[in-house]
Amino acid sequence: MKGLILAGGAGSRLYPLTQVASKQLQPVYDKPMVYYPLTVLIASGIREICLISTPQDLPRFQQLLGNGSQWGITIEYREQPSPDGIAQALIIAASFIGSDSVTLILGDNIFFGGDAFPRAFAEFRAGATIFAYHVNDPERYGVVEFDAAGQAVSLEEKPAQPRSNYAVPGVYLYDNDAVAIAQSLQPSPRGELEITDVNKEYLRRGTLRVQRLSRGTAWLDAGTSSSLHEASAYVQTIEKRQGMKLGCPEEAALYRGFLSLDQFDTLVSSMPRCEYRDYLAETGAEVRRVGIKSA
Ligand code: G1P
Repeated sequence: MKGLILAGGAGSRLYPLTQVASKQLQPVYDKPMVYYPLTVLIASGIREICLISTPQDLPRFQQLLGNGSQWGITIEYREQPSPDGIAQALIIAASFIGSDSVTLILGDNIFFGGDAFPRAFAEFRAGATIFAYHVNDPERYGVVEFDAAGQAVSLEEKPAQPRSNYAVPGVYLYDNDAVAIAQSLQPSPRGELEITDVNKEYLRRGTLRVQRLSRGTAWLDAGTSSSLHEASAYVQTIEKRQGMKLGCPEEAALYRGFLSLDQFDTLVSSMPRCEYRDYLAETGAEVRRVGIKSA
């Protein structure tokens, strides 16, 4: 399974914050936004990752994340010259995906809690697995409708009259067919290759699995200044209460065994003195003492 992070878009709703740094580089409390989806992939055991962004922003992501070796993973980069839709990521990354399955995650989707993702990754065999999350404002998202037996029966992108309150978050697990499906799509009325159209094709083929995320999972949006602030406040509240960080790729890489304790210690000692480094140093010391705390 390969991992694809789409971190494109103009971020116009966050103007003027996004004049010189893209949305996915903005801070969500104490880390850049892209650390959160990256950590979801690492925590799910994905080691080969490709990040797609605009030609202007790509060098900044490269500067931030490098080639991934510091976390025991590989990160490649691809350009999306213009924002022509999420499904285009599958076409742009076709050579990276090769003959593998792929998880696509959006760089501005922030998730905490629950074990739905690692479980879905472990269980994934073929077809597509997507998720459903109960929200107040489904018209802003892809919306999935279920029948009485809990089977998904329809999918719609930003419907004016949603048929359910279940939005589809930006994490999609696909077998290799997704590349050809994306290549066969026509742009939607808003001029984009819609990820919902890829999912509809899997639904038509009878190979789409839709897993409902429980209320124990938080899915946050950080697309406006107000929701960005709320996401930061949420992260701060949880981190302060638990003394455990969210969205920390170093920690996820250690827990997944992508880094040995010695490699982890070397990485931590290369960081400037700061609270983040102190936290990681304490995490390493604790793992040496008592093993891994709850993930
Ligand atoms: C996109 C997808 C939508 C999905 C959402 C999740 O919306 O098109 O189906 O529910 O991401 O964040 P957009 O980013 O275009 O608003």
